[in-house]
Amino acid sequence: MNATADRDMNAYWDRAGRVWVEHQALLDKIMAPIAEAVVEAAGPVNGERVLDVGCGSGATTFAAAWRTGPTGRAVGVDISGALVELARRRAGEEGIEGVEFLLADAQTHVFATPFDAIVSRFGVMFFPDPVAAFANLRRALKPSGRLAFAAWRAPEENPLALVPLRAAAPFLPALPAFEKDAPGRFAFADPDRVRRILEESGWRGIEIAPLDVASPLSFDELMTMSLRVGPLNPILAQEDDTVRGQVREAVAAALEPYAKDGLATMTSACWLVTAEG
Ligand SMILES: C[S@@+](CC[C@H](N)C(=O)[O-])C[C@H]1O[C@@H](n2cnc3c(N)ncnc32)[C@H](O)[C@@H]1O
Repeated sequence: MNATADRDMNAYWDRAGRVWVEHQALLDKIMAPIAEAVVEAAGPVNGERVLDVGCGSGATTFAAAWRTGPTGRAVGVDISGALVELARRRAGEEGIEGVEFLLADAQTHVFATPFDAIVSRFGVMFFPDPVAAFANLRRALKPSGRLAFAAWRAPEENPLALVPLRAAAPFLPALPAFEKDAPGRFAFADPDRVRRILEESGWRGIEIAPLDVASPLSFDELMTMSLRVGPLNPILAQEDDTVRGQVREAVAAALEPYAKDGLATMTSACWLVTAEG
């Protein structure tokens, strides 16, 4: 596949990875039930080997490691150096046994020892060539191994992804559009496309089911998600204080209907995808 697309995605996650490091605690709080759902669907047991693709700071790898135990292995792989470093640090500080983190591109990396299961929480939508990537992942699996991952459904079903962008639009020169099927957060919104990608890369027994998770958070945390973690972050970094202030005010007003007494609920509308190698 196109080396420029690979380089672009590496550059993107080099920057975004540092943002995710900064907000790791908030992200993990919101998305903890999704890691549990993914690991539960893959069903790893004591002594097994599990690969967590696009592991970020390791929450899903740690959830898998609870099941594989000290005699098994949960391996996280990610292209962001900052996130892999944080994942390794957390494993050390929290004394989690049987985990390991690799800094590598899951689309092309040759995994030396095969896995019983592959999991991912939002780590598989960024491949420039998804068929090549899922074929590579299938090669990393033992015969009849299991795959389980979570991916976002369409932005229209995730209003808290769209509301801040729409509110900010009048104050900013250019806003990122969610391009259908392009590598990125919503690349797997279309379940027919996900099925096609998995079939073309040799997976069987594919099942795609909705997974909706409601996470309570404070209004300040919702603002942080909207302005600091999401796609507005790199755009606002280019703007001056006046524009940043205008955007903050507009986004706060647009989000107000989603909050009550300073508390909000963020509903993540996802697909839970499972398959066999
Ligand atoms: C949306 S974040 C999710 C992180 C983590 N799974 C979590 O839920 O906290 C996507 C992750 O996928 C990683 N990623 C993107 N493309 C990748 C690739 N080709 N190989 C490995 N990791 C990749 C990014 O660096 C990022 O950490």
